[in-house]
Amino acid sequence: MRILYVVGTRPNFVKTAPVIAALRRRLPEGAHTIVHTGQHYDRLMSEVFLEELGVPAPDHMLEVGSGSHAVQTARTMERLEPVLLAEEPELVVVPGDVNSTLAAALTAIKLGIPVAHVEAGLRSFDMTMPEEVNRIVADRFAELLFLHSEEAVANLRAEGIPDQRMHMVGNTMIDTLVALEARFRAAGSAARLGVAPGEYLLVTLHRPALVDGPLLPETVAQLTALAREMPVVFPVHPRTRKMMEAIEGEHPGLLLSEPLGYLDFLSLLADAGAVLTDSGGIQEETTYLGVPCFTLRDNTERPVTVNAGTNTLLGLDPAAIAGIPAALAERGSAPPQPPPLWDGRAAERIADVIAA
Ligand code: UD1
Repeated sequence: MRILYVVGTRPNFVKTAPVIAALRRRLPEGAHTIVHTGQHYDRLMSEVFLEELGVPAPDHMLEVGSGSHAVQTARTMERLEPVLLAEEPELVVVPGDVNSTLAAALTAIKLGIPVAHVEAGLRSFDMTMPEEVNRIVADRFAELLFLHSEEAVANLRAEGIPDQRMHMVGNTMIDTLVALEARFRAAGSAARLGVAPGEYLLVTLHRPALVDGPLLPETVAQLTALAREMPVVFPVHPRTRKMMEAIEGEHPGLLLSEPLGYLDFLSLLADAGAVLTDSGGIQEETTYLGVPCFTLRDNTERPVTVNAGTNTLLGLDPAAIAGIPAALAERGSAPPQPPPLWDGRAAERIADVIAA
């Protein structure tokens, strides 16, 4: 069997690494071809992740880089098509909801190549999010839909997608976390930053709705105020960095850094007193780890994390950040209850389905 995997961004690597590993083990005689679109290209956003996750060097680098949505998507399609024609895969595997996902799904389907979508069926019901469009298109055309939570079934049925295409396998991002657990638990990243485990707020922000406009300076002001009560550790995504450079001042009290490698980041995540984020993956990782997560968005395509009790939607409202210490003080400490099949074996289940 010839399988081709298309990845392009930091979260893609985390979601796909265990799938590639499981399928290589299951189908050792098969051809396993990795294409990196180059949507993320900085060493800290790409190579470091591939190295830490043990992903083999990609067979094809498309180097599409940054651009508008149309440019990024079109460039990926244009450069991927000849690769698909040359490699003749029988299945193209795409993860998540980024522009690389959309472009790869469309290119493959137009060539009549079946697509498998990992992390299918998530919906925020917010069409202003670029990811929502990408998810809907990938799910509409994929022949194999790999689901990680129950809500996905209802979301897909509501769009007329037949049950035969859905496979409830669990969460491959959690597979990666489980596989790295011994290493990140030993990493001690908090101590290296001089913050005490359980006492700091870890922040990640990168969504255009938050960082590309006036909400970013308001958020930074709120975080600066909060830093007087608890240390604030903030590894800054390149999109956010560009926008922060335009904000006046030094942001006193905030421990700002470059994007972190995954082991360092998971170490900080596991030891955090709480997390503030607009990321989808981090809502899931904190749910698995049982770390309180505050999501600075109006909606989430991952209600499973809210139902699990770890995730609180603050709204797209920087003023709500001031309420985090009080919300933490009120919380009981229940042991984490990961959703069903978030157990480190999702990629094995995907391999079962594909091999069958
Ligand atoms: C993309 C995804 C988003 C995902 C996020 C994870 C889309 C539409 N968005 O957002 O769903 O949550 O990745 O990180 O696919 N940049 C660099 N170096 C890099 C990559 C990006 O400097 O290696 C800068 C560039 O200025 C670029 C900007 O970040 O223009 C945005 O990058 P892009 O890939 O378009 O979107 P993300 O915000 O990273």
